[in-house]
Amino acid sequence: MGLKLNRLAFVCSLIVFLTISAVSHAGVTSSYTRVAEPSEEMPLETFPPPPGYNAPEQVHITQGDHNGRGMIISWVTPVNDDGSNVVTYWIADSDASTNQTAEASTDSYRYFDYNSAFLHHATIKGLKYDTKYFYELGTGRSTRRFYFTTPPEVGPDVPYTFGVIGDLGQTFASNQTLYNYMSNPKGQAVLFAGDLSYADDHPNHDQRKWDAYGRFVEACAAFQPWIWAAGNHEIDYAPSIGETEAFKPYKKRYHVPYKASKSTSPLWYSIKRASAYIIVLSSYSAFDKYTPQNSWLEDELKKVNREETPWLIVMVHSPWYNSNNYHYMEGESMRVTFEPWFVQNKVDIVFAGHVHAYERSERVSNINYNITDGLSSPVKDPSAPIYITIGDGGNIEGIANDYTYPQPSYSAYREASFGHALLEIKNRTHALYTWHRNGDKESVISDSLWVKNRYFLPEVETSMV
Ligand SMILES: [Fe+2]
Repeated sequence: MGLKLNRLAFVCSLIVFLTISAVSHAGVTSSYTRVAEPSEEMPLETFPPPPGYNAPEQVHITQGDHNGRGMIISWVTPVNDDGSNVVTYWIADSDASTNQTAEASTDSYRYFDYNSAFLHHATIKGLKYDTKYFYELGTGRSTRRFYFTTPPEVGPDVPYTFGVIGDLGQTFASNQTLYNYMSNPKGQAVLFAGDLSYADDHPNHDQRKWDAYGRFVEACAAFQPWIWAAGNHEIDYAPSIGETEAFKPYKKRYHVPYKASKSTSPLWYSIKRASAYIIVLSSYSAFDKYTPQNSWLEDELKKVNREETPWLIVMVHSPWYNSNNYHYMEGESMRVTFEPWFVQNKVDIVFAGHVHAYERSERVSNINYNITDGLSSPVKDPSAPIYITIGDGGNIEGIANDYTYPQPSYSAYREASFGHALLEIKNRTHALYTWHRNGDKESVISDSLWVKNRYFLPEVETSMV
């Protein structure tokens, strides 16, 4: 009897072991399911302008130079009064005599039957590293005050935590995503993978939705920089209503420090922040050989010094490795163009949006194909980036829940839910990556990985799923 039980226990253990072994070599499709209905957008009235005459609104900040000692501060006022374009800033706990002021450039635009308010963008430079600043917008009766903390000086072992959000929109689910991110004090800056307001999902690209979006994200984006990438919902190209200038509202409203990286377009640029080198690309601008974006990226990759910034991170809107039937293969031509460079330069992570779900790839590359050799499948490659699709912010178009089956070998984890991610860089070798699904009440960590730096520690990672 005892022998039989022992044999039974052994067989059971073997079955469990074999099952775990099989799973550990395959990608995971999460069994967690969300209702696939479109998410309901928060009404315009949810975000009224702030009280007071000509009060500054839609406040957001982003890095304003290449190294993190500058900040672009952006805001909107209904009227262009004297002083409405002034920002006053000072180091926290300093006396008033140290206050400095800067004047913003002011612009406005017309889109179909909509006239924008006055859009102010001030770049302040020469800030101290790792220092808390207050800033106050406007002069007179309706000033508003905010604060931010500058990053530590750029260096190889500087810890820094980025939030990662994509395709946010302005639904009740978007609200959950944003407040889940904000409720965790770890995030110091946001990498935003494109698709902001979804104004273009409304008749005549209702530009009031851009205003509402600015008011919505102000709760976070006025206090920590959001590093913006442009998505397809930023194009706003609508010749049927006479709007033929692509990216007009986005470029008017969201300035980025592209000139600091010798870029000729705000749609692609780079920054250094702490121990990371962030490269932002545009899926919806020309990228073939001889185009400005292609030439810029070729030069840019040569400038990255991994001894100074070990973490090389790329943001682009349309994913290159996506096993969802939504937007399947849309990023393929850019992958073919740029993937060899990413492998040669040992990019650590590529963040993309566009697909309204979450997916993380294995470290794979697909660069050997030469039309006659048949080598057209992705293969495991320790020099390749991890590709993360994080278009799961929660916008009006709803969840993308139609995956290809069987799950391709390049796909490590995928789940059709809303959420956001954190990338906690610890030092030159390790970063803790976690994906936070929007749960029913609070966010739940549903995917996590200790990411090993491709330059300093190019070992294979083991998923903690
Ligand atoms: Fe998109």
